[in-house]
Amino acid sequence: MSSSRRRRPWTLRTKLIAQLVVVVAGVCLVIGVVTVLSLRSFVLQQLDTQLVDASHRAQAYVEGGGSGERGPHPGPDHRPPPVGAPGTGPGTVTARIVDDVVYDAKQLTLQAAEQQDLTPEATAVLTTVPVDGQGHSKDLPGLGEYRLMAVPTRLGVVVTGLPMVLAESLQTNLSWVLSAVALTGLVAAAGTGILIVRRTLRPLNRVAATASRVAELPLDRGEVALSVRVPESDTDPRTEVGRVGAALNRMLGHIGNALRARHDSETRVRQFVADASHELRTPLAAIRGYAELAKRSPEPVPPDVAHAIGRVESESARMTTLVDDLLLLARLDSGRPLERREVDLSRLVTDVVGDARIAGPAHHWQLDLPPDPVTVAGDDQRLHQVLANLLTNARTHTPAGTTVTTALRVDGEDAVLSVVDDGPGIPPELQPSVFERFARGDSSRSRAAGSTGLGLAIVAAVVAAHDGVVSVSSEPGHTSFEVRLRRFGALS
Ligand SMILES: Nc1ncnc2c1ncn2[C@@H]1O[C@H](COP(=O)(O)OP(=O)(O)OP(=O)(O)O)[C@@H](O)[C@H]1O
Ligand SMILES: [Mg+2]
Repeated sequence: MSSSRRRRPWTLRTKLIAQLVVVVAGVCLVIGVVTVLSLRSFVLQQLDTQLVDASHRAQAYVEGGGSGERGPHPGPDHRPPPVGAPGTGPGTVTARIVDDVVYDAKQLTLQAAEQQDLTPEATAVLTTVPVDGQGHSKDLPGLGEYRLMAVPTRLGVVVTGLPMVLAESLQTNLSWVLSAVALTGLVAAAGTGILIVRRTLRPLNRVAATASRVAELPLDRGEVALSVRVPESDTDPRTEVGRVGAALNRMLGHIGNALRARHDSETRVRQFVADASHELRTPLAAIRGYAELAKRSPEPVPPDVAHAIGRVESESARMTTLVDDLLLLARLDSGRPLERREVDLSRLVTDVVGDARIAGPAHHWQLDLPPDPVTVAGDDQRLHQVLANLLTNARTHTPAGTTVTTALRVDGEDAVLSVVDDGPGIPPELQPSVFERFARGDSSRSRAAGSTGLGLAIVAAVVAAHDGVVSVSSEPGHTSFEVRLRRFGALS
């Protein structure tokens, strides 16, 4: 199942409240059912007591011969209907059964307390009551639920019944009242639960907020001031949330120390590289000077010595470039701000491509400039170096006859500088790391050109220091470097 279709997980708060509501609902249900059932059994007991009385009355009345009129269905012995017994309550049902024949099946009506014959269906039900002197609940068609009791007498079986309407309505009413109370209780429990849970979880939210603030900090480079901490009040180890808060603070402390150590060591290395490069410049200048002096000596020198002096000169020149590059990178790494002056990129491109034409006459150098000058805010010399490095690469890493097109265009707020050549391209395995330090192709051309692999690293560092972006795409026959810089005066 895909993650988008998966059900959203419940929050801790929703889970706690749902569990609380389920528990309260369960308790209410049990209380309600037990109350209704016990009330029902109590009311039935009462009714049965009344039923015994009523049954005795009817029995005595029948056996005693009665005093009232005869009913419309006099029994075989002309006894009066038992419903006429004095003290019979409204709603009472009575009948006498002799040899499976029902006589005097009557009801004393609820409203007028008059004797009324039962319907044949209701009468039929009376015959099904077991003759055991016990109360039995039965439904009399047209009259509702009745509690019926049949007792044997000398003059047949006398059946007496009392309406259960009171017990029924009591049970129904109580059920309604209990449901209403339970529902109110549930709503109140849920409301209180929400308040309590929200209050209880507030410290946890604060701890989570601290963790998110840390997650938003850029921790990957530079000096990181990891001063964010969980508030003191949420770090009491005697509480669960406090333990989480304290653990988070301890972890942040460790991470802060580790980051500080990393930054210190980076700074030391950078400082060492900068110092070493700086210190190396003077002896290198001296070596170059002495080599120059030796070359100018009027005395004849053997050819192998002359060759050695030439090598010393060229290698020291190469080392000087390397040392200068290292020093520049160390300075850029330390975040020292660059100059921010208006630089005319159009003029700079014209100059650098002019230099490249002189340095690489075997290549075809093309220029594509917009009619209006394009200016950016930055460091003239460093930007010069960026373009010079790109053009040097296009010259040294491609065969003679390659066409190199340097173009400048305006794209909204940006000035876009591109250097495109139709040479063999950058080896695919080198492409992902081409802007890293000392990354270079090991073709014989590169080695012969005395490359060090710092040229593009400097390009990337200088462009980044100008808040710009450099990108490369390369395939055989088409290698393109693109540098995107903010135009002068554009809002940053
Ligand atoms: N235009 C290009 N065509 C083909 N390969 C290139 C091109 N530009 C760069 N490369 C490859 O990328 C590598 C890295 O270039 P980078 O300029 O960083 O170092 P380098 O030119 O080797 O040495 P350095 O510039 O320090 O003298 C090069 O060694 C080369 O293999
Ligand atoms: Mg280079």
